[in-house]
Amino acid sequence: NPGYLDGLADAYEQGLVKSVGVSNYSEKRLRDAHERLKKRGVPLASNQVNYSLIYRNPEENGVKAACDELGITLIAYSPIAQGALTGKYTPANPPTGPRGRIYTSDFLSKVAAP
Ligand SMILES: *[C@@H]1O[C@H](CO)[C@@H](O)[C@H](O)[C@H]1NC(C)=O
Ligand SMILES: *[C@@H]1O[C@H](CO)[C@@H](O)[C@H](O)[C@H]1NC(C)=O
Repeated sequence: NPGYLDGLADAYEQGLVKSVGVSNYSEKRLRDAHERLKKRGVPLASNQVNYSLIYRNPEENGVKAACDELGITLIAYSPIAQGALTGKYTPANPPTGPRGRIYTSDFLSKVAAP
């Protein structure tokens, strides 16, 4: 969304923020955003994506490589997979609420320590 990016650039130019970042951008969107901001002299600081030991897609879908190449900091959201990697939840004790829909007993048995 170019309007959103221009808003970020405006905020940066007006000194309202010291840096700007995006969340959950694919490689293509990230490259486009970086280019668009660069034209206005605004560095893109970060891209926050789903990334953890059990979800390493950013290493395969080009997002991490693009971040490294362009000097954008990759920030992990769900770095402990919403608790699934903490040992707090087990197949017999899955989380309740919305995260219980992702981290089901089946899922937890696959990530459980051997
Ligand atoms: C994040 O991106 C993925 C892949 O492009 C998409 O499936 C998912 O819905 C997005 N999540 C949010 C919260 O926008
Ligand atoms: C994020 O990663 C979790 C695994 O920790 C996965 O189950 C979930 O589908 C991912 N969400 C998105 C939006 O890609």
